[in-house]
Amino acid sequence: MHILVSGGLGYIGSHTCLVLLEAGHTISIVDNLINSKIETLEKLRIISTSDFQFYQCDILDYEHLETIVHEGNVDGIIHFAGLKSVGESVSNPLEYYRVNLNTTINLTRLAVKYKIPRFVFSSSATVYGSAKSPLVESQKLLPTTNPYGETKAMCEKILNDASQANPNLGVTLLRYFNPIGAHESGLIGENPNGTPNNLMPYITQVAKGKLEKLKIFGNDYPTNDGTGVRDFIHVMDLAKGHVAAIEKQKSGVQVYNLGTGKGTSVLEIIKTFERVNNLEIPYEFIERRNGDIAEVYANVLKVGKELGWKTERNIEDMCRDAWRFENQNSQYEEEKFSELWK
Ligand SMILES: NC(=O)c1ccc[n+]([C@@H]2O[C@H](COP(=O)([O-])OP(=O)(O)OC[C@H]3O[C@@H](n4cnc5c(N)ncnc54)[C@H](O)[C@@H]3O)[C@@H](O)[C@H]2O)c1
Repeated sequence: MHILVSGGLGYIGSHTCLVLLEAGHTISIVDNLINSKIETLEKLRIISTSDFQFYQCDILDYEHLETIVHEGNVDGIIHFAGLKSVGESVSNPLEYYRVNLNTTINLTRLAVKYKIPRFVFSSSATVYGSAKSPLVESQKLLPTTNPYGETKAMCEKILNDASQANPNLGVTLLRYFNPIGAHESGLIGENPNGTPNNLMPYITQVAKGKLEKLKIFGNDYPTNDGTGVRDFIHVMDLAKGHVAAIEKQKSGVQVYNLGTGKGTSVLEIIKTFERVNNLEIPYEFIERRNGDIAEVYANVLKVGKELGWKTERNIEDMCRDAWRFENQNSQYEEEKFSELWK
């Protein structure tokens, strides 16, 4: 199949592109590089032996996007592009609604116009709001606690309505839990601009000495050790979930959780990271963060049964791979920097 991957140079998108290529699909990546680096393209070409197309395009630019879809004979779309920082969405909500809703509307309009039957959307466990875990796809969604979460719930609604009005449009909504880790080559991984918002890049940057100390939000939750519990999933397992979803797309709308089904606390992640990589992470506890809840983990029965997908990597793999990426990437950036000054 020919798959158009929006946001394909980002963290999850880049790993998914590799798995799609490995599975024999043809891909066209569309990304405007707002939160990714062009080096990722070079790295994908190093890791994969298959060729692919890249278009530097803002998905908000409908006319430009249409020229790409028009020439492509596209069989499916996987839509990752969007803004993803919860904190930023609170301080700049209009930008989050503008980008996340309009990118989804533009791609959905083109899917309908060009009769593209498969559409996979990056949703998030955040749409469950403060519901009690384990979270099941069929449960009623509670209001989310921030504008980012609202955009995900609204995009799900837009895609539901579009699929109902256009029965040829098959949609899969994938609700991700907490992706961490990196490709085993160490070449691609999560490489945020500025101070990381997510736990794992924060840990690796503290381990590397780029940041002084890890700040843990709250140690008084009703969990085993008082720190928050999340369902951490290896990004390569997550990537494989997308390939299963697009290959098995049915008509109508399908919804799946992509998680491991198991909760791990923040302290357990730190201890595992220290043990498998043989180092120490300085940390301190600070106040709980607004909107955070004690435990979030998935029920994964439906996705296992219907897509035949399950996770294969454990927390140790996630910690090892994330650290390998941090080391290789720092070395890569240092070499690039010194080349510039030659
Ligand atoms: N990483 C997580 O923890 C997580 C959890 C749940 C859901 N998600 C969702 O999954 C998707 C991918 O997440 P990620 O972590 O890979 O994010 P990311 O920021 O690394 O990747 C998003 C990519 O989209 C591109 N992009 C953004 N706006 C664009 C536009 N207007 N036109 C073209 N390209 C654009 C960025 O340059 C980037 O390469 C996002 O929609 C995110 O909300 C992520």
